[in-house]
Amino acid sequence: MQLLVNGEERTVDVEDDMPLLWVLRDELGLKGTKYGCGIAQCGACTVHMDGVAVRSCQVAAATADGAEVVTIEGLGSPDALHAVQDAWIAHQVAQCGYCQSGQIMQAASLLETNPEPTDDDIDIVMGGNLCRCGTYPRIRAAVKTAAAKLQEA
Ligand code: FES
Ligand code: FES
Repeated sequence: MQLLVNGEERTVDVEDDMPLLWVLRDELGLKGTKYGCGIAQCGACTVHMDGVAVRSCQVAAATADGAEVVTIEGLGSPDALHAVQDAWIAHQVAQCGYCQSGQIMQAASLLETNPEPTDDDIDIVMGGNLCRCGTYPRIRAAVKTAAAKLQEA
């Protein structure tokens, strides 16, 4: 099957029901997307598929066939960070870091659909991505900083 991953055409030969998460990590070597629960509950595996945040542990490879997928490796680049990545660094959001690629992908998706989220909007959406380290106050602050930066652009 064919996928457009981080702007590159990729062909993979996998079972239809292989989770997209394993396609990304094991077939394409994109290890920034993490495995947490495997049952769509934690958000560690969040990527964008056709512009929407999805939990890649629960997306079958066949469903992703022909789709445009963006992972944390493709959200920005070292020379041109996405506003969310920039804000994450400014606020030093990460603690252990395990959940953070999923958090960043979820936050970027939130700001696509809701460019000026309230505290409640942020807490509701980002609260669905589990962080055992409790970084939610810094996540909220970073999302607000990123929102302001994107508004200026
Ligand atoms: S690993 Fe996909 S939601 Fe937890
Ligand atoms: S930073 Fe440790 S689980 Fe979120």
